[in-house]
Amino acid sequence: MSQHKSLNLTKFVEPLPIPPVLQPLRKDDNFTYYEISMTQFQMSLHQELNPTTVWGYEGSYPGPTIEVESGEQVYIKWLNKLPSTHLLPIDHTVHGAQKELPDVRTVTHVHGAIVKPESDGYPEAWFTKDFAQTGPYFVHEIYHYANPMQACGLWYHDHTMGITRLNVYAGLAGMYIIRDQRERSFHFPAGPYEIPLVIQDKSLNHDGSLYYPRQTDPPVAGLETSIVPEFFGDLNLVNGKVWPYLKVEPRKYRFRLLNAASCRFYQLSLSSGQFFYQIGTDGGLMEHPIGIQQLLLSPAERADVIIDFSNMEGQRIILHNTAPAVFPGGDAPDPRTTGIVMEFRVEQSLTHIDISAIPASMGALPLLDLTQISKYRNLVLDSTMDHFGRHVMLLDSKMWDDPISEKPLLGSTELWAFLNITGQTHPMHVHLGFFQLIDRIPFDAERYQKDGTILLTGPPIPPDPEERGWKDTIRANHGEITRIVKHFTTYTGRYVWHCHMVEHEDYEMMRPFLVVRDSTEQPFE
Ligand code: C2O
Ligand code: CU
Repeated sequence: MSQHKSLNLTKFVEPLPIPPVLQPLRKDDNFTYYEISMTQFQMSLHQELNPTTVWGYEGSYPGPTIEVESGEQVYIKWLNKLPSTHLLPIDHTVHGAQKELPDVRTVTHVHGAIVKPESDGYPEAWFTKDFAQTGPYFVHEIYHYANPMQACGLWYHDHTMGITRLNVYAGLAGMYIIRDQRERSFHFPAGPYEIPLVIQDKSLNHDGSLYYPRQTDPPVAGLETSIVPEFFGDLNLVNGKVWPYLKVEPRKYRFRLLNAASCRFYQLSLSSGQFFYQIGTDGGLMEHPIGIQQLLLSPAERADVIIDFSNMEGQRIILHNTAPAVFPGGDAPDPRTTGIVMEFRVEQSLTHIDISAIPASMGALPLLDLTQISKYRNLVLDSTMDHFGRHVMLLDSKMWDDPISEKPLLGSTELWAFLNITGQTHPMHVHLGFFQLIDRIPFDAERYQKDGTILLTGPPIPPDPEERGWKDTIRANHGEITRIVKHFTTYTGRYVWHCHMVEHEDYEMMRPFLVVRDSTEQPFE
């Protein structure tokens, strides 16, 4: 795919860093206030390399973890303090990154959050350094997060029109964790025994700098840069270090897993053959823990898991990845590089008796009522060729600027069916909280492409055990109709839904939707 030459770096020599928890500037009974600056700085990603120039929040890549209580009124001032030239090659042929626009635009989205549209990080609500220039929508200096959700693990990342892939790859991503009393009542491993794992793939040049492809293969004549259809790095990073290790005590740990990669799917397993006890999905706790030996996470998906290292003293356990790059059907990961994520070393002695628990049940999950569905939408995931001969991924054959077609009513429940006729799985994300997966129904994608007939070819496939809970990102597989049910609640206005492979998102696989108070409402702010 590129002229990039892989680096040969020693594995498991970097201790796993734990992103700091961000301290608010002000906090009282009424509200909490943070200021978060985006800056460029140097950081060592691996000790055998020169420091890498990256972008981060508050001088940290990944960004510091934001920890809030359910219902806490949080205000964040996001500040763009980045230099005026982008760290990575901009492709001005991509819609939303046109030459007239400044290169270093930013806007931050808290992924999964229920917020007003003006605080959601709408892609066109971007701003440049010190707000010198701003996009056409919702430009607010201070974002408000009311955090009406129950305990869950969200994340925040850049969402700027046409350059999200570059801003996120440069380092603009971090965890956002919501807590509540109900979660605390279960006594999951906590404090030093609860650790976020932000997993990403990257490629690095010999001088330590970030590698991002400048051109498609084959290069398009006359274009200095052009978007790659997908990006896959040859190194795995966790919390900003290449193939790190973590020393653990022989006890239970809770890991907040996040796939923050551009396009890579991770199918995670432990070399010891141990189980992950999954307790939560994207949107919070599940009904009961499930034990699984393999955990599939597409870009933006999270899993809340407990791993029990009791009686494993002296062991070294590797966290493996076995998912093919392009999912499914692409090349298998190289077992020496992309097939390895990190290592756990059960080398510490137990400092306290482990009184944490894996409860038998976390309580029933309120299922969305399918009889309340007021609107069924068939949404096709397809693609076309642009005039450079590149694949452009589309939603319902529409581009970003086409009129808004999805206008759910405030308070209504809708069924969205993603009919995937492309050759690969897309992680589909809908803003404004969570949804539930109903099922996936196999259908004849070729027939659909030919004459629009929906011919079902098999019985509905129920959700995988690890998807039975609140979700905000769901794998929509080729040749399947992935059906989700979502309640459009709390706020009206303009949001987005998109594929979370960020190269696809930047190149037309993203659409606005509008939550309206009544069906005559017109799409404006
Ligand atoms: Cu994680 Cu619209 O994004
Ligand atoms: Cu996609």
